[in-house]
Amino acid sequence: MKKNPQTELIHAPRKAPQLISTVQPPLYRASTIIFNNTDALFNRHWTDAYDYSYGTHGTPTTFTLGDHIAQIEGGLYHLLAPSGLSAINLVNSCLLSQGDEVWVPDNIYGPNMEHLRNLQQRYGIAVKVYNPVEVESFNPSDKAKLLWLEAAGSVTLEFPDLSGLVKKAQAHSILTALDNTWGAGLAFNAFDFGEDHLSVDLTVHALTKYPSGGGDILMGSVVTRDQKLHHQLFRMHAIQGICVSGDDTAQIQRSLASMQLRYQQQSQSALTLLNWLKQQKELVQVLHPADPDSAGHAYWKDICKDGHSAGLVSVIFDAQYNLNDIRAFCDALTLFKLGFSWGGPVSLVMLYNLKEMRVLEHKHLKQGLLVRFCIGLEHPDDLIQDIAQALQHLKQHKNE
Ligand SMILES: Cc1ncc(COP(=O)(O)O)c(C=O)c1O
Repeated sequence: MKKNPQTELIHAPRKAPQLISTVQPPLYRASTIIFNNTDALFNRHWTDAYDYSYGTHGTPTTFTLGDHIAQIEGGLYHLLAPSGLSAINLVNSCLLSQGDEVWVPDNIYGPNMEHLRNLQQRYGIAVKVYNPVEVESFNPSDKAKLLWLEAAGSVTLEFPDLSGLVKKAQAHSILTALDNTWGAGLAFNAFDFGEDHLSVDLTVHALTKYPSGGGDILMGSVVTRDQKLHHQLFRMHAIQGICVSGDDTAQIQRSLASMQLRYQQQSQSALTLLNWLKQQKELVQVLHPADPDSAGHAYWKDICKDGHSAGLVSVIFDAQYNLNDIRAFCDALTLFKLGFSWGGPVSLVMLYNLKEMRVLEHKHLKQGLLVRFCIGLEHPDDLIQDIAQALQHLKQHKNE
């Protein structure tokens, strides 16, 4: 029967046949998911990973990406969150309760530390800091519940003694959470590494970086091989209403195909820059896990057998250069843009004040201001030229 236009505009008269094969999976956008009948409604199991019941829970689009990320990282179960930080917060808020102790490396991603300090103030959770290259500095009490790991760590890029730390955590029945953003599941397998085939309990990955690859989309994931742990995280994920947009998910899915090529290119360019940067006399230290002088280099060599090392390099300037000089250096760069994040096509630069960022004393870090370069997909020769002209500018600025 012919319906009113008002109704016809909502209910399409025909649905085109759905079964075709495409290179990219179809994109689903959903808040409401329509049940075929009341049987389907009453028999839904929201703890079933593939139960489509409401948009926050997921759609074939989000489950496809989650499965893909889990597979790349060597895990089995996955959850997606709207940013890497949101995935970190999911882990902290799910696994830590009043009175617990959590251990973090001194080079932890700063906002993770801020979240933990917030939990410390409100719930009396003790936040303990360890030196990632000295396993003895990790001294858990019987209240310790969670050990955070980052390989390599943020900004100063020390590679941790992953094997030593995970073994010690396991001996004390402490859960291990690795921020796997730097390795992206490509540099090493977090669920099977080292000679003893060790595994962390879960990984968090800022998909914002390498999986997205565009510098334009935010997303995070939590991956595990442990079904019980996954269900625990899954419940918290559900009650907090953590979910991602179908469009963003499809964009990241599309970028995954080229992730290994981009990662390798950015790793290679970073190594080229590393060798050149080491020869510049305005710099007193270059930080990169593949450099034999960098803290944790031996651990990196042991774990990242294929020599992967991502696209991040940090440098410390000679202490004669003050903040104004370093600002002049950064402002003089043309290809390197001033901005947070990494893993995109455009090279980035960021200044950091190490004194405000570290709790422990780090004898391996020289005095001076630190700048981190995130290498994009430009030709490394052009990036070197850009830094060379900015260093000239720095010297002129100093002499003015
Ligand atoms: C190591 C690391 N983990 C997590 C994050 C958080 O990711 P997002 O920017 O998606 O919140 C970042 C962001 O810079 C990061 O560097």
